[in-house]
This record gives sequence, C-alpha cells and structure tokens, in this order.
Amino acid sequence: MQNQEPILKTEEVLTINNFLETETSEEIEKLILDGLSATPKYISSRFFYDDKGSELFEKITYLPEYYPTSLEKNILSNNASDITAGRKKFNIIELGSGDCSKISLLFDAMPPEQIAHTIYFPVDISHSAIKKSAHILLRKYNRLRVNGILADFLKHLKIPSSDLPNLICFFGSTIGNFDKKTAHNLLLKLSDQMKPGDRLLLGLDMVKNQKILEKAYNDSSGITAEFNKNILNAINNITGCNFNPDNFEHIAFFNKDHSRIEMHLKALQPVTVTDKIGREWKIKKGEMIHTEDSHKFTIDDIMEMSILAGFTIKGLYSDEHQWFSLVSFEK
Ligand code: AVJ
Repeated sequence: MQNQEPILKTEEVLTINNFLETETSEEIEKLILDGLSATPKYISSRFFYDDKGSELFEKITYLPEYYPTSLEKNILSNNASDITAGRKKFNIIELGSGDCSKISLLFDAMPPEQIAHTIYFPVDISHSAIKKSAHILLRKYNRLRVNGILADFLKHLKIPSSDLPNLICFFGSTIGNFDKKTAHNLLLKLSDQMKPGDRLLLGLDMVKNQKILEKAYNDSSGITAEFNKNILNAINNITGCNFNPDNFEHIAFFNKDHSRIEMHLKALQPVTVTDKIGREWKIKKGEMIHTEDSHKFTIDDIMEMSILAGFTIKGLYSDEHQWFSLVSFEK
C-alpha cells in the first residue's frame, strides 16, 4: 500500500508572521508633503496602489500594449519544469506575492510529491492579499504548506534559515522601480542571507525599441493615464489635499540616459493645492510631478548584478524577441 500523508486543513497549513513595522500616518504624510515641496516635485510610486489603483494596475496587465505580464507568464510556464527540476524538497519565497497567479505556474509544473515537500513563503505588505492567495493555493494544491510573511521587503528581509534549498522569486520587473543603489542593496541583502545552492529567480523588463516601450505606458484605452492620475486621489485620501486629477495630463517617456520609463503628471493650468490644515502648494502650468521610474535592463546589467551579488547565472529564460527575461541566479 502507498504511504499516504494525511490531508491537512487550511488552518494547519497556513501561518502568517507579521514583520510589518507600520509607519505612523504622520511619517507617511511627511513623506508625501516633502515630495510636493521638492524641486522637481515627486510622489513615490508606492502610493499608486490604493484599492482603485490596484484594480487599474490589474487592468493594465491585460492591455495589448502592456507586454511584460503576459510575456513573463508565458516564459514561466514554458520553463517551469526546468526551474523547479532536481529539487526534492525546497522552500519557495516570493517577494511581493500579490495575487499568486505567477507562482501557480511553477506549482502547476511540479508533481504532487514535490509540492508536498514544498513550503511557500509569500512576502507582501497586504495581509488580505496573503490570506486570499494562500486559500486559493491551498485549495488548488492541497498538500502545499504556506507560511505567509507580512513585511515590507525593503525594510525587513529575512530569508527563512533552513537546511533546504531556497528559491526566491521576484517577478514583474518590480526591481526596476527602485533606483540603482536601492536595487543593488536589495540584491546584496538577499545574497548575504542565501546559502550556496540557493537561487533567485528575477523578472526583468529588457531595453528594446523605444516606441514599443513608450506604447506600453501610453495605451490607447487610457488606462495607464487613469492609473497615473489616480495617485492624486490616493494622496488626497491620505493627506486631505484637494488635488483635482483632471487638472493634470499623463506623461510617460523613455529616458535613454537612465534607461527607464518615467511617468509624470503635468499641470494643464496653474494649480493651488491645499491640505487639511491649510498649507498650500503652487504648481505652475506645465510643471511636472514625477510619479514613477521603471528601469529597463540589458544583458550587461544582468552580468553586473551577478558579479555584484556573488551569483552565477544558472538560467536565462526569455521570449523570442528578448523583451522580457527571467534570470535564475545561484549563490
Ligand atoms: C508594477 C512596477 C512593474 O513599472 O511596468 C505599469 C507599474 N506603471 N504601468 C511597471 C506600471 C505603469 C509596473 N510595475
């Protein structure tokens, strides 16, 4: 007779550890208001993702012009068995796990025996996202164990110390949102905690024809414009400011010197913004508020990351045009 493991109930297989050092609302307000007082003005891209913004971003991922999400998913499913092969028991850690639709593509390629020996650690700042995705995964792969980690991985990054090999996944080219120094620090911090044989699977949007890049951030249905302008609603809700998003135009272009898409909001007329305690900011007609950088990468950048963090490149998976890459780094 076969050796059958008992099927565990959800509560027994899902634990969530909270490492979220939540900032006070004063700290968050200060961060925003400092940006509005700076020259040039900026708003951190982390404020895009209120409920409406998350919904709009999800819509973006299905736009015909926005190729990164669909390409990355294709690359993942085409190479999932190669990525997970040869590891009998391992931990999968996903930074910014979100809705878990990408990691599912890996689990789909794993035999049930391998899944039964896998612990999945989704790391996210949203408790509800972790809970929701864990329940979906546990229903779909009933022998999986999930250990959610509620944390901001830029501030708190603790890879589970375990004798088992770790596979760290960081999808979506989210690393491209950080400036070079922050991205390199993140790689160094990860590498520091990895033991020989541990791997990092990193999704990177590659440098390509400027028109294709710019179309991905200037879609014909205007969803990206709505997403960009919605950051002002999010800011209004946090700070009590009275931005009218209609007074701004969505601007997105490729900055070649910095190899990044930049998003800005350009004032269509002179604007005066007031917050809840009466502080005022004047914005001139034509002035821009910088809302996002999305860096694009080259093979040389990948080599540089590898050398910097002391990794070897175990696999480089891409689409036929090399528009998006999944790099498998090994410590
Ligand atoms: C989620 C940060 C990867 O930079 O492409 C999409 C966000 N901004 N359209 C990106 C985004 C405008 C996206 N990331």
